[in-house]
Amino acid sequence: MFAYALLCVLWCLGRSGADAQATKPNILFMYVDDVSPRELRMYDAPTWVGKKTVESDEERFRAKTPMLDMMSREGMYFTKVWAAPVCSPSRAMFLTGRFAHITKWWYNRDYGTFTNADGETEDFVPLYLTSPILVGHLAQQAGYKTMWAGKPGMKTADLREFGFDEGVFLPNAAFDPPTPYSPEFVIKKEVRDGKTVNVNNDTGKIVNVGRERSYFWKPHIDLMNFPGTTEDFTYWPHTAELQAEYGLATYGPDVESESIINFMTRSHEEEKPFFVFHNSKLGHIAFNFIQPEKGSSYPPTPKLYWNEKKQKYNRLDVTITGSNGVYETEGINNGGLNRHIEYCDYMLWQYVEHLKDLGIMNNTIIIFASDNGTPFWGKGSRVRQRGPHVPMVIYAPGMNLAKQGRQDVLVHVVDMLPTFADIMGVEHLLDGYSKQGKNLWPYLITAKPRHRGYLYSYIKELQQIRGKLVMRDMNNDWWKVDEEVEDYDSYPLITDWDALPAEFGVERDNLIRIMGRFDLYETEHDYI
Ligand SMILES: *[C@@H]1O[C@H](CO)[C@@H](O)[C@H](O)[C@H]1NC(C)=O
Ligand SMILES: *[C@@H]1O[C@H](CO)[C@@H](O)[C@H](O)[C@H]1NC(C)=O
Repeated sequence: MFAYALLCVLWCLGRSGADAQATKPNILFMYVDDVSPRELRMYDAPTWVGKKTVESDEERFRAKTPMLDMMSREGMYFTKVWAAPVCSPSRAMFLTGRFAHITKWWYNRDYGTFTNADGETEDFVPLYLTSPILVGHLAQQAGYKTMWAGKPGMKTADLREFGFDEGVFLPNAAFDPPTPYSPEFVIKKEVRDGKTVNVNNDTGKIVNVGRERSYFWKPHIDLMNFPGTTEDFTYWPHTAELQAEYGLATYGPDVESESIINFMTRSHEEEKPFFVFHNSKLGHIAFNFIQPEKGSSYPPTPKLYWNEKKQKYNRLDVTITGSNGVYETEGINNGGLNRHIEYCDYMLWQYVEHLKDLGIMNNTIIIFASDNGTPFWGKGSRVRQRGPHVPMVIYAPGMNLAKQGRQDVLVHVVDMLPTFADIMGVEHLLDGYSKQGKNLWPYLITAKPRHRGYLYSYIKELQQIRGKLVMRDMNNDWWKVDEEVEDYDSYPLITDWDALPAEFGVERDNLIRIMGRFDLYETEHDYI
């Protein structure tokens, strides 16, 4: 009896250490590309882009997303979330918890300069210089195993410096020369008749798109500190077995999701919590190498079927044969933004199933969001909130979240860093660290009715801001936003402030003051 009790004490003590570590919640942040909230059915907007550029209200062009529907119903979805109108500043916001007056990431291809180790001025400041506490660093400090999958978009910055233990990346400028495995699916520069033109290396034909490497079919994929590899950086497929399987029917997003699933398993085996940043390129337009006559479009995805009864996805096997721009395909659909979103839904289903199999879904938080609005409608737009308005779904069954379903509080993508710091138990690391993000965790786990007072975004020197009552866009127009509209867009224009209650003008003046604090594009564009 006594011996047994002693044994138990020792055993229980030993276990409690491991448990303390293992009970830190896992976090998966899926940041998809170029998707406005109205593309997702839980937002219940009257129109969407759906397929390509056409404004549509046809059901058949709206993504079917049984997983996201369930996650937003059983978890939460947020109707007033902002990032930036284009991807780079949005990525910076997520990774740093800060706005551009600190990160110096003002717009795509407009970054602050900095002085490199050789004393030369370079025109692309790495985020870890302007912002030494990135979200990945917090996770590592908290004992998490960390992974970055998808799009890095970090030019020449050292991808090892972002706080991610390992990475599986779509083509990135940091990888030079590019992968040798897919030489044909490249848009290259060539001089023809004395003129520099872009050429599809697969067909030899001049194309009207910029330089590009395939990231969907027969993808270019780069690896960082990947298990089974000995170098910091290498290319996928990195084993003879994978090389034998690799080909035209290899689909980039599958490589990411399979790597993520494998990473979850390994973290679990090591009894470490995980943090995954899945910066998916799904939602983005790309050159359609397997149907080059379609140029830049939403390339097809593998066909999916949702079995409502079994709550289960089936993904068809894909066959692609052919060469030099002429391909026969089986098992793929016609492409479209809706199909890309559906593939994200399929990946979420895979993650949830796998987490359930591991028995850790209950201790995992999945957050789904997008970096900016839909192309041809929202992306880069200065009109109202079309650019920075993004979807966000939070699903964490078993974590006793205090709220459910639609949430109308203001939330910003910069809020993720302090939120994750709290969840990971390392909030103290942010003491005295200047940031614009506000911890959302108290809102998620208590009855607290409010979160933050304003949303802010920018394109270079142009600023926009939204409060609870009024919003100013990048055309300097003010809009009345105290009542949400069904398309999240057609707010009444404010022309006569005197016709509104005084509190509208008070909020406007306060928002103008806040914008003034961040209005540093002309004077503090660069880093040192
Ligand atoms: C174009 O394709 C050829 C033949 O596959 C290959 O040798 C070459 O490296 C490719 N060019 C680029 C820029 O990838
Ligand atoms: C998750 O938590 C619920 C409620 O506590 C419990 O009924 C269920 O068995 C748990 N599932 C797993 C996979 O741990």
